[in-house]
Amino acid sequence: MPLLGVNIDHVATLRQARQGKEPDPVHAAVAAESAGADCITVHLREDRRHIQDRDVDVLRQMVSTRLNLEMSVSEEITDFAVRILPDQATLVPERRQEVTTEGGLDVIAHCDRVTACCKRVSEAGIVVSLFIDPEPEQLRRSADIGVPAVELHTGSYADAKPGAAQQRELKRLHRAAELAAELGLVLNLGHGLDYRNVIPVAQLPGANELNIGHSIIARSITVGLQQAVREMKSLISR
Ligand code: PXP
Repeated sequence: MPLLGVNIDHVATLRQARQGKEPDPVHAAVAAESAGADCITVHLREDRRHIQDRDVDVLRQMVSTRLNLEMSVSEEITDFAVRILPDQATLVPERRQEVTTEGGLDVIAHCDRVTACCKRVSEAGIVVSLFIDPEPEQLRRSADIGVPAVELHTGSYADAKPGAAQQRELKRLHRAAELAAELGLVLNLGHGLDYRNVIPVAQLPGANELNIGHSIIARSITVGLQQAVREMKSLISR
C-alpha cells in the first residue's frame, strides 16, 4: 500500500490571508503525523505566497516522519534547500501567475538547469524526485539525469470527466508506472487527488507515495485534520 504525504501549504495560505500567526502549518504537520501521515510536504514558492522560510526551518526540527520540500530549480531556493536539508526535494516548475503547479517539470527542455540543481541537492544528501507529466520521454530523461524518484502529475486524470476520458488518463498513468519500474525509478504520484478519485491511483503498480493537499485540508474544515488524514489513509490502503 502506498505511503501518504500530506501537503500542508493550504494551512499557510489561510494564515497568510490575515498575515497573522494562525493557523500554524507546524501544528497541522504534528496533527497529520499523529493521524498516520507518512510524510509532510510543503512548497516554498519563490513568491512566498503561503509557506515561509521560517515554517520550513521549524518543520525541519518538528517533523518526525519525513519532510518533502517542493521547490523550483532557482538558485535562491536551491541554496535554501541545501541549508535546511529536507529528507526529500521534489523539483517542480513554477510560474508566478499560476494558481497551483499547473504542469510537470519539462526535464527535456530544461535539462541543464534541472541536472545542475539535482547535483547540488543530491550531493547535500537529499533524495531528489522530479515532478513530471506521465510521458515516456520525461521518464526516460529523468532516469538519464540519475534521480532515484519521480512524482507523476495526476492532474489530467483528476480533471478528466469520469468515464472514458478518465480511464484514458488512468491508462496513461499505468503505462508510465510500468516504465518507471523498468527504469528503476521510485514512483510517487500527486496533484488533484481526492476522496473520490484516489483508489485507482493508489492501486497503480509500484505506487510508493501519494502527495495530497487540497482535498485533505478542505475536508479537515468539516471533520478535523486527523479524521481527514485517517479517511484518506484508509482509502489508499484498500
Ligand atoms: N504534488 C505536487 C508536486 C504539487 O505541486 C502539489 C500541489 O502543491 C501536490 C502534489 C498536491 O496537490 P493537491 O493540493 O491538488 O492535492
